[in-house]
Amino acid sequence: MTARGLDWTPEEMRRLGYAVVDAVVARHSGLASDAPWRGGRRTELETLFREPCPEDPGDPDLALATAVEEILPRAGRIDHPRFMAFIPSSPVWPAILAQWLTTGFNTFQGTWLESAGPSQIELVVLDWFREWMGMPEGAGGLFTSGGSAANLMAVVAAREKAGNPESPAVYISDQAHSSVARGVRIAGIPSEAVRRIPVGSDLRMRADLLARQMEQDVEAGRSPVLVVGNGGATNTGLVDPLAELATISRRHGAWFHVDAAYGGFAVLTPRGRALLEGIQDADSITLDPHKWLFQPYEAGCLLARDPADLESAFRVSAEYLQDTELGMEHVNFGDRGLQLTRSFRALKVWMTLKTHGRRALADAVEEAMVLADHAADRIRKEPLLEILGVPSMSIVCFRARSSRERTVTPEVLDRWNRIIQDQVVEEGTAMISSTLIDGRFALRFCILNHRTTRADVDAVLDRIVELAEAGVP
Ligand SMILES: Cc1ncc(COP(=O)(O)O)c(C=O)c1O
Repeated sequence: MTARGLDWTPEEMRRLGYAVVDAVVARHSGLASDAPWRGGRRTELETLFREPCPEDPGDPDLALATAVEEILPRAGRIDHPRFMAFIPSSPVWPAILAQWLTTGFNTFQGTWLESAGPSQIELVVLDWFREWMGMPEGAGGLFTSGGSAANLMAVVAAREKAGNPESPAVYISDQAHSSVARGVRIAGIPSEAVRRIPVGSDLRMRADLLARQMEQDVEAGRSPVLVVGNGGATNTGLVDPLAELATISRRHGAWFHVDAAYGGFAVLTPRGRALLEGIQDADSITLDPHKWLFQPYEAGCLLARDPADLESAFRVSAEYLQDTELGMEHVNFGDRGLQLTRSFRALKVWMTLKTHGRRALADAVEEAMVLADHAADRIRKEPLLEILGVPSMSIVCFRARSSRERTVTPEVLDRWNRIIQDQVVEEGTAMISSTLIDGRFALRFCILNHRTTRADVDAVLDRIVELAEAGVP
């Protein structure tokens, strides 16, 4: 390192920079032969990493080696082809490179003045998303840290649009992602204003119950502010009847938001487009490119039918920012959401589409759904497995059941399934998570990875069947 304090010589920067590239390429090339998950107990990690803050310079090669060999591997490999837990992510290489570039170029993506080129690219990419969703021209929004931030901002925008009424009502499905309820709470809307509309036997929000609840609330003097539909529920992948929800919301002047953080990019395929029918009628949509658009963390997005609604909700002028006011067409993305200092997230999506093209991404989305269909078909045929709920998009919930010869109590069956899950994860076959469907413990596959193959799905199911056959321990 130089004697110039914090700056490095070009040679040093290159040497370590190339070492980082090598480490990441090695990780990606060896991914499939690695375990999908590795955890660690707090006591073990305290022993390994607890130390006083270094006062003096240390060896950068040693710090890099520790990061690459000791710290980063002790985690889930979310992009492993057999990581099927929660909502995985499998970023493509151009997107990773773009993220490195934006870090290296230290882009400040809060105002047009400070990032004209990047702001234009954000507008362009948002417009691609708008078209994919079928929203009218003029709709737009912003990139966010993720779906939670986008959902929160949608709640705030809806509340402001409604004039922040004294007695609001917000309608969400009982299958809504937790970030929606959290957003409502952060927005200061009291919990008694939240109506959790039950789902039907198909696990989709009951539009008739929504309509009835809204009518009752209006009669009681409440102001319906917001309806949130699922554009692919996290639990099941199921899509609420969006077109109906849009009509009902409009009838009562409520903002209609679709949380499509998980499923939104399924619109790239004819099947997904059909499932998400009605999404184009939303006032706002949450999307998460870091889920099904193969982007590294963090990349979320909020699209609004009228981006002026976002600016009315979030813009607060300040004297020290007066130089940044360059006129309406020069969008200051810091005025559209809760972050002033923002990274340039749109570049990774732009690089991805410029190098792979839309069709390749659409094919990868379709393939994930085909693999989920395959998993569901196999589960239906396996005598010791049963599907729970209704598989949709790329999510399949299921569990092991008892054989005809041997019936066990529901509690034993739940415990048995938990043991199967733990075994599959601990031995490194796959990372799968669990949930509850109608109150019953379920194993859950979420297949989103462009690397996952039919052989991966079969290998995981073969092992689960093997464990199920071994019987209740
Ligand atoms: C439907 C849905 N909405 C919102 C979120 C939250 O998104 P994030 O984790 O990007 O904040 C998720 C995450 O899984 C999700 O599945």
